[in-house]
Amino acid sequence: MLKDIAKSVWANAYAPYSKFKVGVAIKTIDGSVFSGVNVENAAYPEGTCAEAAAIAAMCAAGQREIVEVYVIADCKEPVPPCGGCRQKLAEFSKPDVPVTMATLAGKEKTIVVSDLLPGSFNKNFFSDK
Ligand code: THU
Repeated sequence: MLKDIAKSVWANAYAPYSKFKVGVAIKTIDGSVFSGVNVENAAYPEGTCAEAAAIAAMCAAGQREIVEVYVIADCKEPVPPCGGCRQKLAEFSKPDVPVTMATLAGKEKTIVVSDLLPGSFNKNFFSDK
């Protein structure tokens, strides 16, 4: 279950600066699951988001199509992916892919990728020149 995987990797996030750990699990079209955590750095801009880590693992395995996403953090309200991660998720997801945002305490909110990033820039524009 994506929730259990996201929750278990969450503990391994490396976030000594923000103290804001994020865990992500994504499912791909063939049923594989990939996970990721945020990894911060003393040189702050070098930190990477949990979504980016999960997507990189997915690509390394040769997968390219996300069908479900689960994002978890220890906060009061379900954690929304940052702007850059919305763009990264949209690259590999159909518009109706559900993204569930969750708190460690169990509060959840699910929205689809097209609502996370309406009017997105995407590869279709390359053939539109
Ligand atoms: N973070 C993520 O990993 N994913 C998100 O969608 C929101 C933010 C991380 C980045 C940084 O390590 C910490 O949360 C605080 O911004």
